[in-house]
Amino acid sequence: MHYNFNKELPLFQLNIPTQLYAGKNESERIKDIISQFGKRVLVISMQDLSEMAERIRNYITTAEINTELILLENIEPTCSYIDKLKQQLKGNKIDAVIGIGGGTAIDTAKALAIALTHSDPIWLYTNLSNRPPLPLVNQTLPVIAIPTTSGTGTEVTPYAVLTNTETSQKGTIQQAEIYPKVAILDPELTKTQPPKLTAATGIDAFVHALESFINVSKFSPVAECTAREAMIIIYKVLPEVYKNLNNLEVRLEMSWASTLAGIAISHRGTTAIHAIAEPLGAITHIPHADAVAICTPPVLKHTWSKAIKKFALLYDIFEPFNRYEKTEAYKAEKIVELIITMFEKVNMVKKIKDYVETNDLTDKLLGDVIKYKFRPLAQHPVKFSKKELTLIISDIIE
Ligand SMILES: [Fe+2]
Repeated sequence: MHYNFNKELPLFQLNIPTQLYAGKNESERIKDIISQFGKRVLVISMQDLSEMAERIRNYITTAEINTELILLENIEPTCSYIDKLKQQLKGNKIDAVIGIGGGTAIDTAKALAIALTHSDPIWLYTNLSNRPPLPLVNQTLPVIAIPTTSGTGTEVTPYAVLTNTETSQKGTIQQAEIYPKVAILDPELTKTQPPKLTAATGIDAFVHALESFINVSKFSPVAECTAREAMIIIYKVLPEVYKNLNNLEVRLEMSWASTLAGIAISHRGTTAIHAIAEPLGAITHIPHADAVAICTPPVLKHTWSKAIKKFALLYDIFEPFNRYEKTEAYKAEKIVELIITMFEKVNMVKKIKDYVETNDLTDKLLGDVIKYKFRPLAQHPVKFSKKELTLIISDIIE
C-alpha cells in the first residue's frame, strides 16, 4: 500500500465506537450492561419476534429498571410512524433505546434516539444529496443493537434509513451520535431467520462490502480491509448457511461478515447499486435487500469494462490462486459472473416484475436517482452519463 500524503488531512480515520460482544447466548449479557444506560429502557422489536423480544426484555426488567416494549409490523421504518411514536412516548422520560431485529427495528431505535430528544419532524434529519440535514442540537439517547439478521450492519454504523411515504423517497440519517453504544451478535437469534430472509439480507451485506470496496470517493484502508474480509466470508459461507439454517457456527460467521461490511460502509459508503435500490424500494415498496439484489447484476454488467483495474482486484480476492494466469480484462468480466453465480446459489437473482408492475417506472426512478442520490452515484468507479444511467435502469426494470 502506498500512502499519498498530498491529500487533505486526515489521510484516513478509524471510527468503531461500538462495544461489540459476539457468541452463543451473548444476548443474555444485556442484563449485566443495561444499568449503565439508565432506569427506563424502550425496547423496539418486531411482531414476529415477540417471543424473543419478551425473553430479552425479561433479562433486563428488574425492580430498578423499567422497560417498555413496542413491536413493529414487518415494514421498513417510515418517518410518519417515527413521528407518531414520538408523540405517543412523549413524557415517558426514556433513558435508552434497544433495537432487537433487522434493520427495521434497529433503525427505528436509532431514529427514536433523535426524535425523542429533538422537536422537528424526523425526515428533516435525513441527509439527501440535494438537501442537507438539520443539525443535532441536543444529546441523543444511547442505542443498543441486538440484530436478528445478518445483513444491514446497522449495529456498527451511524446510519438509519427512513422512508418518506408522502414523497416516496428514502433518506439516511447519518450522525455519529447514533452509533450503537453496544451491539450483541448472538447466533441463537439469527437462526430464526427463514431461508429467503437469510439469503436476501446476506446479499445486502455482500453488496455493502462490494460497494465500499469499489467506492472511489476517498482513501480508506479501514474500508478496504473490512470489505475484503466481509466479501470473502459471505462468498463462501452464505450458500452454506442457506442449506444449513441451524448451524450456529456459520450463522455467527455471517453475522461477523455483516458487521465487517457495516464497518466498511461507515468508512466509505455505498455506490450506484444502493443509489438506485433505495429509490426503487421507496417507490415500489420492494424490501431493501431484494431491491439491492435486483439492481446488482445490471449495474455490475454495465460497469466492469470501464473500471477494469478495480474489478480485476475483486477477482484476485475471490480467486487468489488464479491471479497471475489471467489478464485484467478477463478477471474483471469473470468476477461479475462469479458474483451472479453466488446470487443464483441462494436463489437471489430477481426481477422487479417478480414483485410489482413495472409500467411507468423508468422515468420516476431515473428522476429520483438523479435528483437526490447523485452523491452515492458519483462514488462509483464509473462516471455515468444520463444515457448510460437510463440504459442501466431499463435493464433493471425489464
Ligand atoms: Fe443495504
